[in-house]
Amino acid sequence: MTPDTKSSAHAVLFVCLGNICRSPTAEGVFRALAREAGLEPELRIDSAGTGGYHVGATPDARAMAAASARGYDLSTIRARKVSVQDFHEFDLILAMDEDNLLHLQGIAPEGARARLGLLLDYAPGSAGRGVPDPYYGGRNGFEQVLDLVTEACAGLVDELRRTLR
Ligand code: 4NP
Repeated sequence: MTPDTKSSAHAVLFVCLGNICRSPTAEGVFRALAREAGLEPELRIDSAGTGGYHVGATPDARAMAAASARGYDLSTIRARKVSVQDFHEFDLILAMDEDNLLHLQGIAPEGARARLGLLLDYAPGSAGRGVPDPYYGGRNGFEQVLDLVTEACAGLVDELRRTLR
């Protein structure tokens, strides 16, 4: 059994629209920062999209290139659509923006295990903000995604370091 599927792990799911730009970036960055902090064995980390257009696809080539330039490998991630089961399996489901959070709140089943929130609530000074969708923009959008996601993932690692230990 890999650390990713341990049932005792604290499970965190990152969610955007397509699961090819923002949430796989968050998955890759968070996994790397959690590994550096020695927390990865205690975590299950995954990402998904509220839309199903890109199911099975690798992350967007621009997202992979921008992440790779900062030392993060997203190449093994494949897009999937968020499912009702996710609300029972994950402890924390973090949306990249308000639209995706509203979508998640709309499909959350009764008795869900998961707490829902915005990723940027973990970035100092950015609570309530969304990670802008970079899909139709230029390269700079992907750099901004990495900046915001990295800040928030570092904040999340700090919080989990305090609460899981
Ligand atoms: P993501 O970006 O939600 O960060 O993965 C998008 C990817 C694809 C589309 C929109 C946003 N799309 O419309 O196909």
